Amino acid sequence: MSRILRVDSSITGEHSVSRQLTQHIVKQLTAADPSTEVSERDLAADPLPHLTLDHLGPNAELDAFLAADTIVVGAPMYNFTLPTQLKAWLDRVVSNGTTFRYTAEGKPEGLAGGKRVIVALSRGGVYGPDQGNADFEHLESYLKAIFAFIGITPEFVRADGLNLGAEAKSRGVEQALGEVERLAA
Ligand SMILES: Cc1cc2nc3c(=O)[nH]c(=O)nc-3n(C[C@H](O)[C@H](O)[C@H](O)COP(=O)(O)O)c2cc1C
Repeated sequence: MSRILRVDSSITGEHSVSRQLTQHIVKQLTAADPSTEVSERDLAADPLPHLTLDHLGPNAELDAFLAADTIVVGAPMYNFTLPTQLKAWLDRVVSNGTTFRYTAEGKPEGLAGGKRVIVALSRGGVYGPDQGNADFEHLESYLKAIFAFIGITPEFVRADGLNLGAEAKSRGVEQALGEVERLAA
């Protein structure tokens, strides 16, 4: 039996594209393996406080992350980066001595390898290398780096151009749903 942890962070509830995508990803993965156990963490409905020193070390979010084989993360772009709710969750998961460590030589080493992380990105604009505003992209680049830091290469599903009109939005969503089909295949 494998375990999926679904983590959502969008504040837009039933209108959320990232939630639509995480739901679809989980549906596809569980259809492929019906014995899969799914737990859900809604960081907008039940937000974590900002990190303080008291929160460092063992915590419930870290335990849930460690217990999962696959983590499906919904990551909308707010102000060119991730929602503060998702950052607070990562602040619990990126934990010295558990998900990463520094070697005697001072080199960081990820300790969470072996997990599958699938991130559903939803962005109002477009941030490709030829689109002129790649310097503003601090969502995908950040998530790629922080998961690499703990030993994981995340897979991305991207819904882009969601605030560029109704047609662009439906194209963006359709493309992302198509990517989900390929991921799960
Ligand atoms: C508070 C807020 C800030 C946003 N900032 C950006 C931004 O900086 N760049 C961008 O491309 N889209 C931005 N957007 C658009 C969202 O990325 C887009 O609406 C996306 O669909 C949000 O994901 P969701 O549908 O899961 O809520 C912002 C939306 C909100 C609500």
